[in-house]
Amino acid sequence: MTVALIMVGLPARGKTYTARRIARHLDWLGHRSKVFNVGNYRRQQSGADVPHQFFSPNNADGLKARRLAAQSALTDMISWLRKGGEVAVFDATNSTLTRRNWLLEQLTQHGIQCAFIESICEDESIIDTNIEQSKLTSPDYVGKVKEEALTDFKARIAHYVSSYEPLKDGPTPWIKIIDAGRKVILHRISGPILIKVAHLVTQLNLMPTTIWLTRHGQSIYNTQDRVGGDSNLSPNGRFYANSLSTFMQDVEVDEVWTSTLVRTVQTASRLGRPIQRWKILDEIHAGMCDGLTYAEIKNQFPEVSEGRSIDKLRYRYPQGESYEDVIRRVEPIILALEHRSSPVLVVAHQAILRVVYGYFMDHNKEAVPRLSIPLHTVIRLTPSTYGCADIRFCLPPHLDSLA
Ligand code: F6P
Repeated sequence: MTVALIMVGLPARGKTYTARRIARHLDWLGHRSKVFNVGNYRRQQSGADVPHQFFSPNNADGLKARRLAAQSALTDMISWLRKGGEVAVFDATNSTLTRRNWLLEQLTQHGIQCAFIESICEDESIIDTNIEQSKLTSPDYVGKVKEEALTDFKARIAHYVSSYEPLKDGPTPWIKIIDAGRKVILHRISGPILIKVAHLVTQLNLMPTTIWLTRHGQSIYNTQDRVGGDSNLSPNGRFYANSLSTFMQDVEVDEVWTSTLVRTVQTASRLGRPIQRWKILDEIHAGMCDGLTYAEIKNQFPEVSEGRSIDKLRYRYPQGESYEDVIRRVEPIILALEHRSSPVLVVAHQAILRVVYGYFMDHNKEAVPRLSIPLHTVIRLTPSTYGCADIRFCLPPHLDSLA
């Protein structure tokens, strides 16, 4: 079954952010998903630099150009769904009944299941923050003076307000997200994809927060090149726990999440912040290989080394886990991070952080098991509408060089 999720809402209501998070999440869970952003087609066809009058419902040329952009996006979307795509998100205001009926007609003709996702926001402070954080950095206002961009954008919103028709009850399923997720209303939502989407949007935070990530300090097992286990920190690792605590002193983080393994708990113990221990943050389970060095694994279980080198994402340790298993296991953490409105530090393990980092940085799943997440490095992630920024802080000096 192919599904089209049609975004609905005035500009600056977080539609693009929501659309991208939904597609990313579903894709991550194995459902091929993609966003079709009508604004991108409009910019290609009519140029990025168009004044607000272009969006007036009384501007016949503007209407024609916008309809053409929507048609091009829709044609590409239908063809992508017919070629194996599973979930497509149609990202535009789709703010009139006529536009929505037109979309439904074409999509249902191709046997595509449709649902609307409407973002409604009456809270001026949320709208202003959204304009500030995302719209003024959008491709429409590149190189524009901030005040000019703001005035133009507010005039653009006013055009849409004048012709906006909110969703009403009817045969098509819908989800209404009110005031950036303070309230979510579901209408006729059923089936695995729509239920997953409904669950996700209840966790989404339209104003995402900073996420700090670090591996535990070097452990005794790290010094021996052993996988898994539950060893203590090495002297180097204890040194890192101190440096981390100094580094984090001036950083705004009100909660620290660790795994249940001693090396992460020891690393976080000097931070002086409330700690939540999560079993699902424990390192990838190496099954029969737990506690062995990589060299021992190669000698005793050559098929494991070979299996991992051929397909590290899917290869599952005998009686243990694969990276794909970890991706599924860690999903509640990802949702919890999506939901947070205040910064958090996650102290975890190499494989776990590859997954969390890979998700937020939009890496292809195949690349995840080889992402570089070195010891003794703090990573700051700042998610936003158009991507996620990443800054790494290496915390020297340490006692000697680290593997
Ligand atoms: O070596 C440290 C470690 O956290 C091990 O406990 C774990 O098995 C490994 O990293 C995960 O990395 P990779 O999948 O590359 O072996």
